[in-house]
Amino acid sequence: MSYSRTKTHIDVPAVGVPPGLFGPWKAAFLWISHSEAFMREGVRKYGQSGTTFKISTPARWIVFITNRDIMREIKNDSDALSFHAASQERLSAKYIFSQDLYVNPYHLDLISKKLTQKLTTVIPEVLEEITMAFEENVKIGSEWTAIDNYNIMLKSISRTTSKIFVGLPLCRKQDYLDKVVKFATLASKGGQTIDMFPNILKPVASWFVMDNGAAMRKIMDDVGPIFVERKRMMEEWGDDWTDRPNDAVQWILELAPPNSSIESMCVRIMFLSFAAIHTSSMSITQVLLDLGAHPEFQEPLKEEIESVLQEFGGWSKQALTKMKKLDSCMRESQRMNGVVIASVMRKAMTSQTLSDGTFLPKGTWVIVPTSALHHSEILYENPLEFDPFRYSRMREQPGHEAKHQLVSVDENNLGFGIGNHACPGRFFAANELKILLAYIVCNYEFKIPTNERPTNEFYGISCIPDVKTPLLFRERPGRDESPVHFFK
Ligand code: HEM
Repeated sequence: MSYSRTKTHIDVPAVGVPPGLFGPWKAAFLWISHSEAFMREGVRKYGQSGTTFKISTPARWIVFITNRDIMREIKNDSDALSFHAASQERLSAKYIFSQDLYVNPYHLDLISKKLTQKLTTVIPEVLEEITMAFEENVKIGSEWTAIDNYNIMLKSISRTTSKIFVGLPLCRKQDYLDKVVKFATLASKGGQTIDMFPNILKPVASWFVMDNGAAMRKIMDDVGPIFVERKRMMEEWGDDWTDRPNDAVQWILELAPPNSSIESMCVRIMFLSFAAIHTSSMSITQVLLDLGAHPEFQEPLKEEIESVLQEFGGWSKQALTKMKKLDSCMRESQRMNGVVIASVMRKAMTSQTLSDGTFLPKGTWVIVPTSALHHSEILYENPLEFDPFRYSRMREQPGHEAKHQLVSVDENNLGFGIGNHACPGRFFAANELKILLAYIVCNYEFKIPTNERPTNEFYGISCIPDVKTPLLFRERPGRDESPVHFFK
């Protein structure tokens, strides 16, 4: 038997471990709220040399990769180094959703082959719903008015995303949206919390954390009947049903294995909602905080948006792609305040050695310290400065016109991950969020009352924007003349 098969020690430097016998245990609990500080320390110490380091977390030690060559080596996962194995453990998918998600992940085809391919037809629906949702949830006149930023974003995004997932009229029922948001909030923290327990205690922990599945059952009560009715229509009309809805319920019915239960199809809607709603709401909340702390960048964005809308005669996928400053601003916000502070998570399914000599015993997790790298001079000049047009300037270089976009994934920008598990929903999210931001910027001015950007909180690898500081909004004079209204 080779040495590598029996060795279990991860022989790389540890970060964040206080001195003393119980140091690694203390570090594991400190990780929950100090994760970002630990990763920054690791990147400061080992980032320049591109060496790996490890951090103790409640569930396991995790090995952090700072070297681009190794990132390229691990980015396309394999049977030996698996994204899904790590992901289902981190989300506690078995307890919160269903193991079925990973047995047949057809929702990935749904996102890439249906949602993304149909963006051209989805965009007008997003435009209608998101602007209506925003206006119905705020009351802003010519005086500065305090707005509950995160809550409004959550309401607008959950309704718009649900329109594409479950259609009308359910997407406009606030009661349903509240249930979806409640479930996703529980699932997001709950998954990481359950993962901290030993396997034997996980079922009990999940019972408490997830309220014995109550939140999920309430959503099924609403979504289940839609599946039943659609199935009936499909059976009745067959191929003659030409104007069938263009939403995730329909796409699931087309992609799910025959005889899938209504319950299992509802779980896909919940998983999609979980993956889409909080990530997108937090991202747009962060952009508004960034631009609220730097109102001077709002006018140049407005000028670009209005001129592109005039040029293209309205909103379209092409017009949104042409809004380079808007795209750059959102990518810069994601660089500094991304919703995850580590990505490209993989679990070693066999003991193996990376090409820099790092030995990974079977079961070890590796991950990239995304946020710490994004904030380091290894990748960026003036990394601590919010420079919204950083990427649009980069795109002015010959040969770089199509690079550095919000949806481009590479080793310099890891907010959506990289490789074959990079976020498949990013094309939809980018368009949805651009429409909302463009609409806000052309209609309103906004600022942070204190002029100081509030700081984020961290829970493991999640980055949570400040939800307490309100934003002050007021209408732009003459907003009704903006092309954002002509081209609806
Ligand atoms: C701004 C919004 C979003 C952000 C920041 C985001 C971020 C991410 C990240 C970081 C990953 C993991 C990649 C890795 O670690 O390598 C991921 C995976 C994923 N995302 Fe997103 N996401 C967003 C929106 C969405 C939307 C709208 C959907 C669905 C329509 C979606 C569906 C997924 C799915 C299904 C995965 C797992 C991919 C797989 O199993 O291969 N995401 N996302």
